[in-house]
Amino acid sequence: MMASQHSTRAASIALIVGLVFGACGASAQERVAGDDEAEKVMEMRSQTMKGLGRSMRTLRDFARGRKDAEEAVMAASDIEKASTEIPSLFPIGTGLDEFLDSEAKEVIWEEWDAFTAASQQLTEKAAAMVAAIESADQGRIREAFGDLGRNGCGGCHNRFREERD
Ligand code: HEC
Repeated sequence: MMASQHSTRAASIALIVGLVFGACGASAQERVAGDDEAEKVMEMRSQTMKGLGRSMRTLRDFARGRKDAEEAVMAASDIEKASTEIPSLFPIGTGLDEFLDSEAKEVIWEEWDAFTAASQQLTEKAAAMVAAIESADQGRIREAFGDLGRNGCGGCHNRFREERD
């Protein structure tokens, strides 16, 4: 009796978890409505990525002693915040198959879970950078900054961005 009650409960929890995650996945991977919408979202993501680039330059200057810790914490926090918005900036139909000037590979949508995981990885690396700056430990700061660039940004770019010059 107890055992079967337990397994029924476990099964319904599994069902609810499945529904919640299924629903998230579906809403996260929406198709873009049309060309105007595509241009808009692609412009937004270009601005977001360029903002990430600026924040990384602030952090690099900080690592070289040219910015103070307060500015560096702000830059790393900005990266942390922006990273959570990355998936919403990549609706289906906005990749380099549709737009010649895009660097967004189609594998983004084929491996959507890995893509959202890569943006979560950036969130984590940026949070670790904030903690490192607050610790004022130079070794830890260097390590966190290297990790942020290599695995936070690079972890996604290597697989999902077709970099051109
Ligand atoms: C989860 C994936 C992902 C993460 C994480 C990510 N990027 Fe990107 N980034 C992309 C993709 C995909 C493109 C190409 C977008 C396009 O061309 O439509 C891109 C493009 C860019 C561009 C070019 C933008 C332009 O329009 O010229 C810059 C700069 C950039 N990223 C900087 C960064 C920096 C710095 C970080 C880390 C702080 C970062 N990105 C993290 C996926 C990511």
